[in-house]
Amino acid sequence: MPDTYTSLANSPIGKLITGQLGLPRPTILERYSPGDATISGQVLLGAAPGGRLAPAAATVLAGLSANVSTALRGDLRKAAADAGLDAAVFNGEVPGDARFKALVFDATGITDSTQLRELHAFFHPVVRRTQSCSRVVVLGTAPEDTGSPREAAAQRALEGFTRSLGKEIGQGGTVQLVYVAPGAEAFLGSTLRFLLSARSAYVSGQVVRINQGAATPPVVDVHRPLEGKVALVTGASRGIGAAIASVLARDGAHVVGLDIPPLAEDLEAVTSALGGSFLTADITTDDAPQSIALHLQEAHGGVDIVVHNAGITQDRTLARMKPERWERVLDINLSSEERINDELLSSGVLNTGARIVCVSSIAGIAGNNGQTNYGTSKAGVAGMVVAMAPVLAKQQVTINAVAPGFIETQMTAAVPIAIREAGRRMNSMSQGGLPVDVAEAIAWFAAPDSGGLNGNVVRVCGQSLLGA
Ligand SMILES: NC(=O)c1ccc[n+]([C@@H]2O[C@H](COP(=O)([O-])OP(=O)(O)OC[C@H]3O[C@@H](n4cnc5c(N)ncnc54)[C@H](O)[C@@H]3O)[C@@H](O)[C@H]2O)c1
Repeated sequence: MPDTYTSLANSPIGKLITGQLGLPRPTILERYSPGDATISGQVLLGAAPGGRLAPAAATVLAGLSANVSTALRGDLRKAAADAGLDAAVFNGEVPGDARFKALVFDATGITDSTQLRELHAFFHPVVRRTQSCSRVVVLGTAPEDTGSPREAAAQRALEGFTRSLGKEIGQGGTVQLVYVAPGAEAFLGSTLRFLLSARSAYVSGQVVRINQGAATPPVVDVHRPLEGKVALVTGASRGIGAAIASVLARDGAHVVGLDIPPLAEDLEAVTSALGGSFLTADITTDDAPQSIALHLQEAHGGVDIVVHNAGITQDRTLARMKPERWERVLDINLSSEERINDELLSSGVLNTGARIVCVSSIAGIAGNNGQTNYGTSKAGVAGMVVAMAPVLAKQQVTINAVAPGFIETQMTAAVPIAIREAGRRMNSMSQGGLPVDVAEAIAWFAAPDSGGLNGNVVRVCGQSLLGA
């Protein structure tokens, strides 16, 4: 549900008033419903000369049955044909009446700053021809994977381009940069599928890194990619956790919801509606990691997806913060996740190809007044993800995090109205996100064909102005 201002601003009278007074009119964002096509509308695919990712992108688009026009150059026509893509080819000018739902540009051929003009050449003529809730994806090579300082600088420059375009594009459009390591081209599928679809409604201005995964990505049913998987979701009785449980179940997983014993009734209601099961535990107790591992082993023979969502805030400025507040927040939000991960790993309960997804926060990136404990814990979560990724990769397990910005939940509804309105509007979408937006990003990381994503921290914040 859009917030009251967004609904009013989009009513006929609201449009008139916001237009006359020059007030912002947040776009009502398109969101995914089961059975929806990944992308409905035309995709324009282009590339800088010498790029290596256009064929991989064409293959993904062909798999999605996307309606694609490949831009401007003859060699893309061959890439599209080789991928079996049914594409119209524009040689030179894009027809005046063409409108695009998505623009995908392979920038890996840019090896020098002077070639950055390729970005202008591709996007300038078409950026005003995008539809509402459009998607822009720029594909690049991570600076650390390039062959020269000039290439590294040019590829790093793509960050400034995508983040700036994200602030310009408007109408609920999103813009992302995806760095794909040489050799990891086959791992592009799940990420392109997510970023081009309505599932990524509140994700914009992000940099995603794809590396070579441990195993060849399997072909998945795009509507039920998690079929047959067992997913543990902590803090599942309400809020974002309940949305995560619902999206993972929608995508085919059997969800094991976990929450504290006093919330058993709510938890059971959430999980039984999804055909899942539940487990009560306070994750900070000494025996929680072992009892969780034992339950997953005995009831399900292991676990494929672990979502560390349970978290709390106990705000005070540092000078007024009692040690108990510090301890409790750090223990629930960070230390217990580390203990559970260690136990699941050492007990062999994590199945091959398992996915761990953590919920960090924008407060761990930008910091927040009154949240030294919370900001510390959530930055620690990001640190854990980055540090554990190479360790887990050896066991074909991945770990990633989402960092939500302002999400419409009971927690944010309780924030005083002035602060709430500021938090809600200070992003490129001029609105708060929904719990489902966080859940969709988690489902993307959890997908069986997301093995190339490991150690990423992606914000679900509508490109918040806080903390670049
Ligand atoms: N709401 C937002 O805008 C926002 C923004 C950034 C990050 N987050 C993060 O998203 C996650 C979910 O937030 P929410 O807004 O849905 O909060 P919420 O309070 O509605 O839900 C948190 C859940 O975690 C459970 N939990 C707390 N302590 C636990 C423990 N010791 N053992 C087991 N379960 C425990 C709670 O019982 C609750 O069900 C949290 O990690 C939060 O920090 C939320």
